[in-house]
Amino acid sequence: MKQVSDKTLQALTDIIGAQNILRDDEAMAPYIVELRGRFHTPALAIAIPETIEQLQKLVSWANDNRIGLVPQGGNTGMVGGQVPKRGNEIIVSMAKLNRVRHMDASGGYMCVEAGVTLKNAQKAADDAGLLFPLAIAPQEKAQIGGILSSNAGGLQVLAYGYARQLCLGVEAVMANGSLYQGLSGLKKDNTGYDLSSLLVGAEGTLGIISAATLKLFPKPKGFETAFINLSSPKAALTLYSELLKRLGTSLTTFEMMPDFGMQMQIRHKMIEKNPAAKNSEWYVLAQMSQLPGQSTNALSTALDSALNDRVIEHFTIAKDERIRRQMWKVREQLSGAQSKEGASIKHDISVPISAVPELIERGIEAAKTILPDIRPCPFGHLGDGNIHFNFSQPVGADPKAYMDGAMKIHEAIYGIVTDLGGSISAEHGIGQLKTELLKHHKDPVAYDMMKKIKLVLDPNNIMNPGKLFD
Ligand code: MLT
Ligand code: ZN
Repeated sequence: MKQVSDKTLQALTDIIGAQNILRDDEAMAPYIVELRGRFHTPALAIAIPETIEQLQKLVSWANDNRIGLVPQGGNTGMVGGQVPKRGNEIIVSMAKLNRVRHMDASGGYMCVEAGVTLKNAQKAADDAGLLFPLAIAPQEKAQIGGILSSNAGGLQVLAYGYARQLCLGVEAVMANGSLYQGLSGLKKDNTGYDLSSLLVGAEGTLGIISAATLKLFPKPKGFETAFINLSSPKAALTLYSELLKRLGTSLTTFEMMPDFGMQMQIRHKMIEKNPAAKNSEWYVLAQMSQLPGQSTNALSTALDSALNDRVIEHFTIAKDERIRRQMWKVREQLSGAQSKEGASIKHDISVPISAVPELIERGIEAAKTILPDIRPCPFGHLGDGNIHFNFSQPVGADPKAYMDGAMKIHEAIYGIVTDLGGSISAEHGIGQLKTELLKHHKDPVAYDMMKKIKLVLDPNNIMNPGKLFD
């Protein structure tokens, strides 16, 4: 346990009450280590405010005393943004700020607090006969505040957009304790800087998002889901443009994976069998969300044409909900499956959609030149140009030695990404994992603007210190 002065502890107790402070090692353990166990740094304490007023007082006190605060939602982030960097910060858990404040079904939006889980936000929308479409796997844990702060994406960005595009405005506690009230339900508000958008994706470095107004959509009448066999990312790209032409925004999912991703799940008994009727080099999971008035088999009709044109090798339509779930499972488990195959070198990158096949081809070639037995597993959101370009260690290799050589692979992949006009972080953010990369790959003018904004809004650097910037 980190030593905390009596004065600090007393101040914290006065502000949020002893019942909202965690101090002993066992209670703090789940908060200080992130999902993949990669970052593990102590904290002074865990503070769990119950009201916005408490949160404001806490931030204002931390600012006066130069104490770093690390806002934390469901602790599902992947780049260490939600856990301490230095070891002398206080983690601010948003879990108790978890009310759905307002539902406006006719206006198509709702206002929820930061600690509402994704699952509960989806449920609130569903209960009102609408859809909140953001879909990432850990929905029981992930919270709206963290989702917005990290500008999460997920499996339906294609049609509905990522977190920033699903948000009409936020409320946030700023570094001096003041409350930014941007909870507008307005679709149009043309009054200068878009401050809510600035706070979304800021990874808690400018202020702590305490609530948000979120856009809602009509609930689909049903789904048509297909698992598709094809020979290459190039074929997948051709298929994507065909489906987009025919289905427009009712094409809500288009996810690609290599056969390696399928075989390892079979090997580790994570699935019983391949949900496609046969094996192939590559697969696509595509889903059409059927809107009122739309035909039920628009996806299979489009896939029939693709088959005739030899763009794809085969396709399997989910004939019931059980099979649809199996198809989704293969995609959702892909990341977890890789951890069963030993160490993995990962890249969460994006390029213009049309450049995805080139990215994959060049990336595999470059990595194999460095390490011939490396096992590439590029997968993910082809429709967003966002590929999780991961590489599993060669069979039997020493995991530590493999990871020690990661830099060479990183350099090769990020070099190709830059060459193709892409981004070094498409959806997981920067956190503490990619601060160096950001420094080197972000446009220098943009990087300088970001640093200046940080300095003005958080002059004492108490807001999630060490994240985005060192
Ligand atoms: C996914 O799309 O499955 C995740 O963003 C990738 C990951 O967990 O690395
Ligand atoms: Zn992803």
